[in-house]
Amino acid sequence: MASKKKVMLVFGTRPEAIKMAPVYHAIKTCPDEFELTLCVTAQHRQMLDQVLRVFDMVPDIDLDLMKEGQDLFDVTASVLLAMREVLRENRPDVLLVHGDTATTFASSLAAFYAGIKVGHVEAGLRTNNLQEPFPEEFNRQVTSKLSSWHFAPTDYSRENLLKEGIDTSSVFVTGNTVIDALFWALKKTEVDSEMKSLIHQNFASILPFSFEDTRFILITGHRRENFGDGFLNICEALRGLAKEYPKVQFVYPVHLNPHVQDPVTRILSGFNNVHLIAPLDYAPFLILLKHCFLVLTDSGGIQEEAPSLGKPVLVMRDVTERPEAVEAGTVKLVGANKHKIIESVSMLLDDERKYSEMSNSHNPYGDGKASIRILDVLRKC
Ligand code: UD1
Ligand code: UDP
Repeated sequence: MASKKKVMLVFGTRPEAIKMAPVYHAIKTCPDEFELTLCVTAQHRQMLDQVLRVFDMVPDIDLDLMKEGQDLFDVTASVLLAMREVLRENRPDVLLVHGDTATTFASSLAAFYAGIKVGHVEAGLRTNNLQEPFPEEFNRQVTSKLSSWHFAPTDYSRENLLKEGIDTSSVFVTGNTVIDALFWALKKTEVDSEMKSLIHQNFASILPFSFEDTRFILITGHRRENFGDGFLNICEALRGLAKEYPKVQFVYPVHLNPHVQDPVTRILSGFNNVHLIAPLDYAPFLILLKHCFLVLTDSGGIQEEAPSLGKPVLVMRDVTERPEAVEAGTVKLVGANKHKIIESVSMLLDDERKYSEMSNSHNPYGDGKASIRILDVLRKC
């Protein structure tokens, strides 16, 4: 019998964990073909653990690297050094990384130094501006250089890779695994009545209104390039909107980064219709996404999930590496610009026609089978 292929998955943050969960489970279903090792850097601690629990993933190696208020030097250096030891001891045939975080970049670099091949999930997203998003655009460009297999979510991301001279035979358009995760989690909230009832009980304790029949806006934000003035503008826009629309509720699960927590709690506490809550588990977050009126965010993953649910997304960034949903009309860029945010939210609240134009449900990012396509490639590589 042929020997099993040794595959290691490494990730460290909430979105990587959500998007790698379907790949982890796809590989797990083939124990005769693959020896799978899950390594988490825990660049995020609490927000990673939330996802590990929801998706029933148990790390074989947990580097537990997060430090309060870490900066890019801390996290990049600690992942690179820790991965040296992990790769020396385990020597996988393939190291699978995801996306564009410090964990992605430093782990790919460690694999390159150790002579281990890298497969990059969610490859080829580009703004071609190294400052936006910072440092993610740099991280993903370098990871492409270091990878032997590129799992591109869309034709557009494939084209980006080919333009950079990457060999066409190493690029596979798979769809984005976030859609696999989304479908799985939504189904679970529908069939698991105990889970559903717990989620509803929890919302009843943290939200003083019924999320199923109240108009509410869902907000998230954490981009480094928005720290400082950007977050002040965003919070002032939200404060203005909360005063202007007292019957609309604003629900904001606040990212745990202190650069986000500080301005958000300082500027937005004390409003009856603004609800600052802790980061939610994936399934409850999706339930809010499904019921909200619109989403205001600078997140990458939410730009991919919301179109699937037909929700308008106002993206608080100047550029996006995910143009597919902008072209389809569900996503609009508003920057971290106070006046643009107020104007765009007000327009959607006040103008039914404009709102329905942005509320089309479509899936430019996949069909829920991306992880199976990645598995097929891993079998052959
Ligand atoms: C990171 C990624 C970003 C990704 C985002 C997803 C980099 C450079 N940035 O940004 O690409 O979009 O995650 O959310 O890789 N913290 C906690 N608990 C947690 C998570 C974070 O307390 O569970 C706090 C800690 O003080 C930590 C800080 O947030 O030091 C920053 O975390 P870090 O991963 O460095 O940056 P993010 O802004 O989360
Ligand atoms: N998310 C979550 N709980 C929350 C907020 C977001 O589970 O309270 C999920 C969301 O559905 C998406 C992912 O986290 O899949 C996005 O993570 P984030 O915005 O932190 O990172 P990005 O996608 O910008 O890298």
